[in-house]
Amino acid sequence: MLNSNSDEHHEVFAPRLGEQIEKRSAVPFNKPAIVGREFEYIYDAIRRGQLSGDGEYTRKCHAAIRKLTGSAAALLTHSCTAALEMAAILADLKPGDEVILPSYTFVSTANAVVLRGATPVFVDIDPASLNIDPMLVAEAVTAKTRAIFAVHYAGFPADMDALAAIAEKHDLLLVEDAAQALGSTYKGRPAGSLGDMATFSFHETKNIISGEGGALTLMRPDLVHRAEIIREKGTNRSQFMRGETAKYTWVDVGSSFLPGELIAAYLCGQLEHERGIRERRLTMFQQYWDAFENLDAAQQFELPRIPQNTSGNGHMFYLLLENREKRADFIAYLKANDVVAPFHYVPLHSSPFGRENSRTHGLMSNTDEISARLVRLPMFYTLGEDAERVIEITSRWLRGRT
Ligand SMILES: Cc1ncc(COP(=O)(O)O)c(C=O)c1O
Repeated sequence: MLNSNSDEHHEVFAPRLGEQIEKRSAVPFNKPAIVGREFEYIYDAIRRGQLSGDGEYTRKCHAAIRKLTGSAAALLTHSCTAALEMAAILADLKPGDEVILPSYTFVSTANAVVLRGATPVFVDIDPASLNIDPMLVAEAVTAKTRAIFAVHYAGFPADMDALAAIAEKHDLLLVEDAAQALGSTYKGRPAGSLGDMATFSFHETKNIISGEGGALTLMRPDLVHRAEIIREKGTNRSQFMRGETAKYTWVDVGSSFLPGELIAAYLCGQLEHERGIRERRLTMFQQYWDAFENLDAAQQFELPRIPQNTSGNGHMFYLLLENREKRADFIAYLKANDVVAPFHYVPLHSSPFGRENSRTHGLMSNTDEISARLVRLPMFYTLGEDAERVIEITSRWLRGRT
């Protein structure tokens, strides 16, 4: 059984006499939870006397992530952002090179490309999956294209067989931005095993968390040696620590991409419960789905789009409302009823920096439309009975009986 009750680890603050007690606290969008032995592992990491990276807990996390993703190697990083930056270095991106990616993504997918001096080339998403459209990717390939960065939106993998065929034909590196997709599958294969390499996030809004945190996984054993060097400031320190070389020195470009053992210890406690966390979130996803599926609604709305051949990890539940104005009304209504519901992403192709530092291939109509209509409902491990409250308030608005 998972232990969701973290009170034993926290000081409990009782309200002072006479202090106003809120009748009901707001339902946040996200709330990090202790699910297992995180505290114990952090104490143990301190007791062991190694707080820098690549100690016992980092090794345990690497093994767990390798197993979950079916990859040849896993390397913890400070964030998915850092893992994407490592992927861009491994791809040897240079000024003049191009990388094809969706505009409907978090800024880090594109920033990694720009940091190497290369150009992001945005293509539209497929409205059936909200993932990058492989037909548009095929059209966008030029002599300058070096890589495809595919995002698994809402934890549902992109059409990776179609993308792999394009990558193979043009000798491109295929990177999965699997920030949201740990534990998801495509045709029965886990996210992280579907390209040349993949990046994961353990930011506190994700399924498995360590506050900030991430990992790079590699399917190609020939890239592992260089990935270790890039992660260790461009030195061969990892090989030295394993006794494979007598001294360590500067051999390549790199940066400090590895987290310390406290982060790894916390993460280790979470990874041990990956399956239970995923199952609980999938149950919440289903609860939302069942509540809205046959609702007699006055407002037009759509349920999440589930791509073919995928199974998700319950990372996110969203609704697509009729238009931007209706979404603003809905978010304001939820807020007035103490429920926090955000939207994302502002399309990168139309962002101030994106307009100057990228180009688009074709129209971005699906990206623009989805980004105007999508709203995310609260989804976190300890949501519990508050899910009913979110459902009740949402249903009221959707029925037009506010
Ligand atoms: C698709 C995608 N890529 C990258 C990131 C960046 O992750 P991190 O916060 O771990 O750097 C996120 C964060 O939400 C994301 O959604």
